[in-house]
Amino acid sequence: MKRSVKMCSLIILVSALGFFPGSTFAGSKVFRVDHDLYPYYPSLIRWNKSNAQFTSPEVCKGCHPDKYEEWEGSVHSLAFQDPIYQGELNRAVKAVGEDIARQCEGCHSPAGMVTAEIKEPGLAGLGSVAAAGVSCDICHSISGITHWETPSHEPENGSFVLTPGVETKDGLVLTKRGPLKPFDNCGMGFHKCVESPLHLKAELCASCHDVYHYDAHFPLESTYLEWKHGPYAQRDIVCQDCHMVDFPTFLRAADEFRKPDRKEYRHFFNGANYLVYYLAETAAKKAGDEKKAAIIKEKYEMAVKRLQSAADLEVSPVYRQGRLAEVKVRVKNIRAGHNLPTSLTNIRQMWLELTARDEKGNVIMTSGMLDSRGDLPENTRIFNSDGMGDNFHFAVDPWVITAFSRHDTIPPRGYKDVYCGLTAPKGVKKITLQAKLRYRQADQHVAEALLKAEPASVDLKKIYGITKVPALPIVDMVVKQVSFSTTK
Ligand code: HEC
Ligand code: HEC
Ligand code: HEC
Ligand code: HEC
Ligand code: HEC
Repeated sequence: MKRSVKMCSLIILVSALGFFPGSTFAGSKVFRVDHDLYPYYPSLIRWNKSNAQFTSPEVCKGCHPDKYEEWEGSVHSLAFQDPIYQGELNRAVKAVGEDIARQCEGCHSPAGMVTAEIKEPGLAGLGSVAAAGVSCDICHSISGITHWETPSHEPENGSFVLTPGVETKDGLVLTKRGPLKPFDNCGMGFHKCVESPLHLKAELCASCHDVYHYDAHFPLESTYLEWKHGPYAQRDIVCQDCHMVDFPTFLRAADEFRKPDRKEYRHFFNGANYLVYYLAETAAKKAGDEKKAAIIKEKYEMAVKRLQSAADLEVSPVYRQGRLAEVKVRVKNIRAGHNLPTSLTNIRQMWLELTARDEKGNVIMTSGMLDSRGDLPENTRIFNSDGMGDNFHFAVDPWVITAFSRHDTIPPRGYKDVYCGLTAPKGVKKITLQAKLRYRQADQHVAEALLKAEPASVDLKKIYGITKVPALPIVDMVVKQVSFSTTK
């Protein structure tokens, strides 16, 4: 009864404001939305529109081949083609209406969104700028940010300004912004160079790496805010210092808080998403492009190595009245500049698998073991979050989630302690405990649901040779084995 009253009032509110599918969203009761400032709402991108067009990455490649090779096959280059994204985008549009696509595309392919080249989910008929996702000309056309004017007064949903060029009395001039001091003929007549301090700051990345609910403005992904409130921000170690360098330079920046030298920056944008590289490598092989497949394989390996460097485990027995009562496992975030895991915390899974054995190798306790269907048991200690909708029920989709009912991630340089009851069976004198910190991109069933929802132009069989979603690969981030006595 109560529920239907609520539904009725919602419908009245919606129609009184005159909003219907195809129009703009109303904004929540709490947050004021300035639709003149944000013409692409629910994306908060602004575009200084002129006759200066966006340029495809293949043109930049002509003069910046090294940058192109680093960026090619990166998660940014795949942000729009990513089949996991396309499946979810398709579901979003079906559930909420086509206007929500502007929010998603505003971060996954900003140029394709503002130019309205992208008309519907899928890849059909798209030119090389739209399909290239977060390409060169997105970042290097960012001329400003509106982080304080947004509905939540934080960076969110693409709150940056794009200015690919300007019209002058001498004609069109493309302007590309970056870290270099001005010098003559920078850009060799193709573009003007503008020195941009913003490009050396985390705020360049923030507008896309803080994702908010499209209209209720609940922070769904808060990588930037996690970073800002942590120790790396205070020592000026920014996103670029860990994600735009090679692996050893990342380790140095994270361990010693030492900023990379100017010449050490690379366009890898490598994170934890080894699954997306795995799929892209399969696609490149299927298309016969062995060179690209090899480049992507290196990125896959870097993502796995990065995950394996992010955490550490400490295992210790806890005795009560001289007898073993529990084990304590301390899970430490040692190198992620933000919480671990970060971003899509309600989808990603990072969990502890424990196995205790006696002297003869008999298993006396387990926790967090996957069953034959790929499911985790109820009592697994998992570090991530549970989303809930307006009705306070569990939810997975970002257009439904307006709060978290559980949020259990580990802050940068912080830790969480896990206690697990463990008493020794009679006669057992020594126990060996194996603790594993394991990671996968998503629950098997969630991944299957997304990949089942692909738009027609994302043909998994044709592009990837996939007919059935295989078991999602799992990475063991840390494995520790410790033996201890059952009495003290
Ligand atoms: C996600 C944002 C992003 C994308 C995408 C991106 N860049 Fe950059 N680029 C940066 C940042 C940040 C810097 C500054 C890093 C540093 O401190 O050197 C930079 C630096 C540069 C520089 C100047 C630095 C130098 O060493 O000469 C060039 C040239 C450049 N990028 C070209 C490109 C090209 C070409 C592409 C596409 C293949 C590209 N960028 C894609 C963010 C981006
Ligand atoms: C503010 C920018 C932003 C907006 C808006 C946004 N995303 Fe994303 N999305 C991201 C970032 C950043 C990641 C990567 C996070 C990570 O790797 O954990 C991501 C990751 C994803 C992934 C996971 C991809 C994978 O391979 O695991 C899916 C699916 C996705 N987004 C769908 C959507 C949909 C659908 C919408 C619109 C309803 C949307 N996103 C809106 C920035 C955005
Ligand atoms: C005709 C050759 C040419 C093309 C095409 C070209 N650039 Fe450049 N660009 C240069 C040269 C030369 C420099 C000087 C520095 C260097 O060599 O890295 C430069 C410098 C830059 C810088 C540094 C600006 C600064 O002030 O820090 C950025 C960023 C940049 N280019 C981005 C791009 C992007 C993005 C594209 C594609 C849209 C592109 N360039 C296409 C020749 C070119
Ligand atoms: C225009 C929006 C945008 C900007 C600006 C942007 N990103 Fe991203 N970034 C994305 C999206 C979207 C994804 C996820 C794509 C996907 O998973 O399909 C992503 C993915 C990533 C990943 C890979 C995550 C993983 O799971 O492996 C890293 C690392 C990353 N970005 C770092 C950066 C850094 C560093 C900057 C600033 C220099 C930056 N990004 C700026 C939109 C952006
Ligand atoms: C001190 C180094 C460091 C800094 C600084 C840092 N990161 Fe990360 N980042 C990592 C490590 C290590 C991982 C892999 C573990 C993880 O997923 O958290 C990672 C993972 C990620 C991922 C992938 C998450 C996923 O679920 O796939 C994204 C996206 C990302 N970082 C973005 C950023 C952004 C944006 C910033 C700046 C606001 C930033 N990072 C600052 C080290 C760093």
